Amino acid sequence: MKRVFLETYGCQMNVADSELMAGVLQRAGMEMVERAEDADAVILNTCAIREHAELRVLGRLGEFAHLKSKNPALIVGVAGCMAQHLRKRLLDQKRVLDLVVGPDGYRDLPALLQRAANVPTAEIRLDRDETYGDLEPKRQPGVRAWVTVQRGCDKFCTYCVVPYTRGRERSLPLADLVRQVESAAAQGFCEIVFLGQTVNSYHDGTHDFADLLRAASAVPGVLRVRYTSPHPSDMSERVIAAMAECDKVMPHVHLPLQSGSDAILEAMQRTYSITQFEDVLGRIRAQIPGVAVTTDVIVGFPGESDADFEATRAFMQRARFDSAFLFKYSARPDTRAYKLAETVDETEKGRRLQVLIDEQHAISGEIMDGYLNRTIEVLVDGPSNRGKADQPPQLYGKSREFKTVVWPDDGSPAGTLQQVKIVGTTHLTLLGESVGTPRPEPLITIGVS
Ligand code: 5AD
Ligand code: SF4
Repeated sequence: MKRVFLETYGCQMNVADSELMAGVLQRAGMEMVERAEDADAVILNTCAIREHAELRVLGRLGEFAHLKSKNPALIVGVAGCMAQHLRKRLLDQKRVLDLVVGPDGYRDLPALLQRAANVPTAEIRLDRDETYGDLEPKRQPGVRAWVTVQRGCDKFCTYCVVPYTRGRERSLPLADLVRQVESAAAQGFCEIVFLGQTVNSYHDGTHDFADLLRAASAVPGVLRVRYTSPHPSDMSERVIAAMAECDKVMPHVHLPLQSGSDAILEAMQRTYSITQFEDVLGRIRAQIPGVAVTTDVIVGFPGESDADFEATRAFMQRARFDSAFLFKYSARPDTRAYKLAETVDETEKGRRLQVLIDEQHAISGEIMDGYLNRTIEVLVDGPSNRGKADQPPQLYGKSREFKTVVWPDDGSPAGTLQQVKIVGTTHLTLLGESVGTPRPEPLITIGVS
């Protein structure tokens, strides 16, 4: 068995895990292929955060079952957060699935695949020591390298399945991470994005997250450092100061709110009150001028009354987040909230969601309009795939605040910082024109997917 097709669902952590798996497989002599039809084994790296995510994967597995009926030797595997739930399906009936491997089983993936060719195989033990710190990932081409600094989560928010699918929180040693950053920079990646479920609680026994931010921004070749997602309760003064003092740490914080009601925050066991969240937000904004703050919010958690929802609405008006990921509550087996009776029906969840979407669009649009006529620094990602065939080619990239910027292709190479004047906006995108500053030659030419 040689050729493996890997498809990724869910969050950036899964994207990084897929790069890790690709590294492990390639070192074992296997080849990654672009199409399932060309593969000896297909692996879906899955997400279990909401039911919708699981349903998409189950739909895709149906397609692979069809492929397998034409090619019975095909190995079909499921990796990642759904692996735990799917174990039973593997062990019973029709044998569509040959391999189930949880987030701590990737080190042995080549051997597991070989075994799965003969007998249905499951590796779903969670290992509180596994960090993969010594394994080099096979990164997708681009300007941005994802670096997982911490695995698992110890917070146990009552709605969230992650502590059950990814296990206990553990941090990688700072020295391993600096080595990974140096290796990514040597390969031409100029933006580093640190990943962790509560990334700012990072601690390797000696160093905290502030130390890591400072160490990464000192690595030659690194132009920008970002991270996602911090937990509001772990947002220390040291982390805020590191952001404020390091020019290469970008002024963007994704700070998940989840609800604007103290009663719901308590029921979610988020460990902060609205006053405490507002205090953290105020300190971030006071110390990091121009910082963008984005968030996550869940509507329709069990017990969320009209008044609770109105509190969320009012808080979002007050906080004026740059943007927000807004979700309908989805009951997840294993979690504590799963046992609670749902009190908000689908229609009402949909209504609440739409109210927040509309109001947030208006706020995001106003914030984007504040960029009009400003000239800003953009890291060039490459050609924009939005350009229609009959339109002139465009480039896209990210502002320091992680806003997407699109402008006419002026030949700026991917991986360089450019000055772009903003001449138009949507609530999602800044539209620019280049200001024609002389461009330094890129040190390293890199491909962009
Ligand atoms: N239902 C809806 N949204 C959820 N999230 C996590 N668990 C659930 C759930 N059961 C959201 C949270 C989190 C984001 C990654 O997904 O807002 O911050
Ligand atoms: Fe889930 Fe809460 Fe951990 Fe985030 S902090 S992964 S929401 S349990």
